[in-house]
Amino acid sequence: MPVTLVKSFEEPSDDTVEKEDRDKKTMGKTLSKWMFKNANSVADMSEDRVQQVPGSLGLTLFNVMGLVKSGHLFYRNRRDRNKSNVYKVSIYQPRIVLCSFDGIRQMYENTAVRKEPSFGMFVFNQEILGNHTPLIFENDEIHHQRRHIFIELSKKIFCNKNFINELSQSISSELDHVIDTMTSQPSSDFEDALSGAVGNVVTRCIVGKTIDNELLKKWMDNCLIKKFKKARAEGPLVYEKIRQSVKEGPIFREFAAGLVKKNGLLEEDICNEIIFALIFNAYKALHGFVVSALVHLSNLSEDKQIKLQNDASNFHQSTDKTTELNSATDVENYTLEIFRLFPPASFVFRRVTENFVLPLKSGNYQVNKDDLLCGNVYLSQRDPDIFDNPDKLDPDRFQRQPHLKDYLTCFGAPFLQDSVPNIHKCGGQKLALTFAKVFVMHLLTLRIEYDGQPSWSGKKIKRIIGSDKPVRVKAIRK
Ligand code: HEM
Repeated sequence: MPVTLVKSFEEPSDDTVEKEDRDKKTMGKTLSKWMFKNANSVADMSEDRVQQVPGSLGLTLFNVMGLVKSGHLFYRNRRDRNKSNVYKVSIYQPRIVLCSFDGIRQMYENTAVRKEPSFGMFVFNQEILGNHTPLIFENDEIHHQRRHIFIELSKKIFCNKNFINELSQSISSELDHVIDTMTSQPSSDFEDALSGAVGNVVTRCIVGKTIDNELLKKWMDNCLIKKFKKARAEGPLVYEKIRQSVKEGPIFREFAAGLVKKNGLLEEDICNEIIFALIFNAYKALHGFVVSALVHLSNLSEDKQIKLQNDASNFHQSTDKTTELNSATDVENYTLEIFRLFPPASFVFRRVTENFVLPLKSGNYQVNKDDLLCGNVYLSQRDPDIFDNPDKLDPDRFQRQPHLKDYLTCFGAPFLQDSVPNIHKCGGQKLALTFAKVFVMHLLTLRIEYDGQPSWSGKKIKRIIGSDKPVRVKAIRK
């Protein structure tokens, strides 16, 4: 299709931000032009070349039982049974599942889709955020305006020349704390201890102070609700405490004051956006990554472990950790491979606003107004047509075939795609990758004896961690 990806991901400069403002209006036109062109080419086709989306919706009850039993394999089996990377199925409501990169990219490049405040059957509980809708669920002007919060946040964090050193220090002392906890109280929950470490690292970095991990966990537990289930009464209480903590954070205070002045945003909106991204994206997703990255280190062959250890030892010995981190290609490639196999956000959703034809390699499919599109990031990042041995952990994959990075959509849009308005690309990709790589540098210093070797079957859809069962350790040291 005549769509261009791809420029390397960079935080936009001031010029870029201004240009984005100018481009915003023209972008709609460009995309409409693209769609118009597309529509023309579709119009040229004979009727039979536009197919109906295959699959049968089935009964929700059976499908949900299938999901509980088989997890990601449920979606994979449907794909194989339908012999199609796009198919429909009902999970509480009908959805069109897109299992390949060319399907998922449509969700970002097509103007006939919108975000809504839910992930499929899970609705965002606004009470947990002072009745504010975070920009991740917004569209148009409001979304565009609030994106600047994360553009500015990233700029502010990365303009601190000492950032990587401070981050490394913070991760090191948090992991020391995890070791102390697990050594003094061996029955402690290891995943929980790591979630405390991740929570402290991200809150210290983004807000300037740590926030009680129990509050972060409770917020997460209450933030998505099934349509038929009421939120627990503790939601607003938890929100109020977190809000107070964020507002006391020195980094937040300085950052928010600057942004109110520069962009005219309300401090309350900035605070709410930061709370959402801090917990839902940074804390939750990074925790998933950190545990996955840790347990799968032990599945690597010795020579691969040695390569990673070399990167880590150069990093730890260096006083210029920023340069060292940027040249640590083995750690970067391992990090990307973990994000490929265990994307913390396995699904993305869009609602269709106008009929259009979905142009996939396998054919053209009719999509109608009000259809729900469900991008299956997990399966598309394991697409056998793109990735050799897709289920295998291969830390050299991106070294041998760097172009494969283009096919990662775990940050909400193709990995190398520019962050431009309306595509809802992760506003924290650069920050998240930096957190992730520095964590890997420190995970490589840990010596762990597991209580049962962690393994992944793909059947546990609720686990965003690459291990079927909660990870337990017998002994841990540096
Ligand atoms: C491992 C870490 C992370 C992962 C896997 C991740 C993934 C994602 C994904 C998949 C989306 C798009 C969701 C959708 O389209 O429905 C997204 C959006 C977003 N992420 Fe991240 N994220 C991570 C970390 C962060 C961090 C550290 C921040 C900022 C502090 C952040 C801020 C955001 C924001 C603001 C959006 C909304 C963008 C928009 O709608 O325009 N994320 N993220």
